[in-house]
Amino acid sequence: MGGATWLVTGGCGFIGSNLIRLLLSEKPQLKIVNLDALTYAGNPENLAGLPEDQAARHRLVRGDVADPDAVREVFEQSRPSKVFHLAAESHVDRSLTDASPFVRTNVLGTQVLLAASVQFGVERFVMVSTDEVYGSLGPTGLFTESTALAPNSPYAASKASADLLAIAYHRSFGLDVAVTRCSNNYGPYQFPEKLIPLMIKNALGGEPLPVYGDGMNVRDWIHVSDHARALVAVAERGRSGEIYNIGASTEWTNIEIVKKILEILDKPNELIKFVEDRAGHDRRYGIDAAKITAELDWRPRIDFEEGLRRTVEWYVENRTWWEAILSGEYQEFYERYYGKRIAEARGYHQ
Ligand code: NAD
Ligand code: TYD
Repeated sequence: MGGATWLVTGGCGFIGSNLIRLLLSEKPQLKIVNLDALTYAGNPENLAGLPEDQAARHRLVRGDVADPDAVREVFEQSRPSKVFHLAAESHVDRSLTDASPFVRTNVLGTQVLLAASVQFGVERFVMVSTDEVYGSLGPTGLFTESTALAPNSPYAASKASADLLAIAYHRSFGLDVAVTRCSNNYGPYQFPEKLIPLMIKNALGGEPLPVYGDGMNVRDWIHVSDHARALVAVAERGRSGEIYNIGASTEWTNIEIVKKILEILDKPNELIKFVEDRAGHDRRYGIDAAKITAELDWRPRIDFEEGLRRTVEWYVENRTWWEAILSGEYQEFYERYYGKRIAEARGYHQ
């Protein structure tokens, strides 16, 4: 691999920045080009403090994956052998208030990157999809790679479109594509609009913790560093044209997680507010990750309770990081989306 260049899109986001940190530290010859539009969710500070030799091998290009000229320029200049495509609009609640950026970035952006990857002879395109493409599970069963796609939110539908486009570019044009469908991530550098960091932030500020519906929706959690290792395994050893589920068999209800966070922070359960449910709220996700374990010998390393404790500590210690990104734009979204819900909320009575 000596001296190769790999392209990571969305490398200033939560998972992208964790992936780039892993790649730079584990592969001393590798150069990374990071194409990121720096939306509200993209923050160059997520890659601050890299050791000098690693920082020297990382180049951030500010650009939109849906802009063919910007993408062509990046490919022309850096000639990446592998592409990890993570750039996306990623928050379900935002997709319920305006789906158009989701279609532009997640669908059109993916197609633009796939076309450039064909044109420039990329050796492997890792399409970072999500388990949300499968829709919702009942109380039993797990998503396997052959579960039919049945996305419910505009976010999930846009990711399903991107996921299928990637497979179509493999079948139609012979592009070497591997698709990953991972469960919910948690860990450092996650924007505090997603469940775990939002609840930590609100608990620290003594503000209400808005739990949707009855709080009994189930998500299957994985530490971001385990996801990042899985992406590297797929990029290096995955089979072309294949789909790999990624998950750590760690199903929790939302209310259990919220209570656990309050316990770690020694805050009262009375901060919990049950608010109006999310529209089209998927009830349960659960991933069968047997294929990636059997084929690529990947398995998760971080136990959820230990990972959650470390994550809470990280947010306590890195207050300046998250305070700085809670901009006017985010506050406006929070007010618009949560304001009425919290005003009408039922308190915690259990
Ligand atoms: P994130 O919102 O933290 O980061 C997204 C990044 O993409 C940001 O840096 C943003 O600036 C960038 N971006 C957005 N629009 C862009 C555009 N048009 N051009 C270039 N860059 C753009 O998201 P995340 O949680 O790190 O998720 C990364 C990827 O992983 C996404 O594709 C998401 O669908 C997928 N995924 C996430 C999870 C999860 O639990 N967070 C689980 C499975 C899959
Ligand atoms: P989220 O972190 O948005 O991830 P996703 O919707 O992609 O799974 O939400 C995780 C779960 O937490 C989901 O069931 C919705 C719920 N949730 C709340 O109850 N309150 C909140 O304020 C948020 C952001 C999420």
